[in-house]
Amino acid sequence: MFQTETGKDISVAKKFLQAGEVVAIPTETVYGLAADALSPEAVLKIFEVKNRPFFDPLIVHVHSKSEIEKYAEDVPPAALQLIERFMPGPLTLLLKKKNIIPDLVTSGLDTVGLRIPRHPLTRELLKELPFPLAAPSANPFGYISPTTPQHVADQLGGKIPYILDGGSTEVGVESTIIGFDEGVAVMYRPGGLSLEEIEKVIGKVKLPDAENKATLSPGMLKSHYAPRKKLIILDDDTLQIPETNRNETAVLAFDSFLKDYPVENQLLLSPSGDLNEAAKNLFSAMRKLDASGHVKLILTVRFPDVGLGRAINDRLKRAAS
Ligand code: TXA
Ligand code: MG
Repeated sequence: MFQTETGKDISVAKKFLQAGEVVAIPTETVYGLAADALSPEAVLKIFEVKNRPFFDPLIVHVHSKSEIEKYAEDVPPAALQLIERFMPGPLTLLLKKKNIIPDLVTSGLDTVGLRIPRHPLTRELLKELPFPLAAPSANPFGYISPTTPQHVADQLGGKIPYILDGGSTEVGVESTIIGFDEGVAVMYRPGGLSLEEIEKVIGKVKLPDAENKATLSPGMLKSHYAPRKKLIILDDDTLQIPETNRNETAVLAFDSFLKDYPVENQLLLSPSGDLNEAAKNLFSAMRKLDASGHVKLILTVRFPDVGLGRAINDRLKRAAS
């Protein structure tokens, strides 16, 4: 057990990480639960704190582009273009790993997920550390990712020594994950960098082959990012509203309130209809409704399937299953 402290002191975070401990760190997407990626003992603690199964690999966070070649090889040309254009940023690339990355980090896979986070505090921390940081999102396995230091403290308080406080995260949904199939880009997880942006740089990106389970990222686990309460997505074509007491039903809407529900039970993710703002607010809103005593059921709508709307729909779909 730890007396968890929250603070902005990089040197404290550094001290714990160098001692092989786990520290929560801010990124531009969500908070991560970080440890020395080159130390299996330290990485093991991440799995323990999160209660995460060992078959689910971790993303490795590095400081700069030149570090990517320390940990990955045979980097395809399309990956180089994405690195050049979008890193640091909300993008993770699955690349052929070098031996220096422990098998525990990649769950025995021969690829490693690499990303350069954009948050200034964490970039500074990475710059000062002699090792990269393995970090999944800082939530118990299967629950909603944290976007504030308080979210982390609420669930992992007592289990880690330090939360590096970088404020509320800027993007609000996890990084987009891109892998390569014989050099061709495949999007394994829609996230904070839109498919449109990526395709502008490297052309058509494939979606993973649902038939071939081996190619699916464990991050594609169907039930994930889930609140504890039941969540239902109202499709336009299936507008049958469940028979629950209206006052026990909360609504997570995009830019306008649903007609049939009391306004005080509804949260708008972006009154101005901005999908980036909606993504930023998504997980906080889900947590808020999950924690509110009188709410038994959460209803939500389908978002436009463009830009960050894809990541929002993906997370809602997993939360509903
Ligand atoms: O924005 C993010 O990506 C955040 C911040 C903290 O960086 N991290 C994050 O990590 O979302 P996590 O562990 O919650 O989700 C990463 C997903 C995992 O579910 C895992 O399945 C997938 O990435 N992944 C990691 N390495 C992989 C690999 N080598 N092959 C396939 N999937 C991988
Ligand atoms: Mg996660």
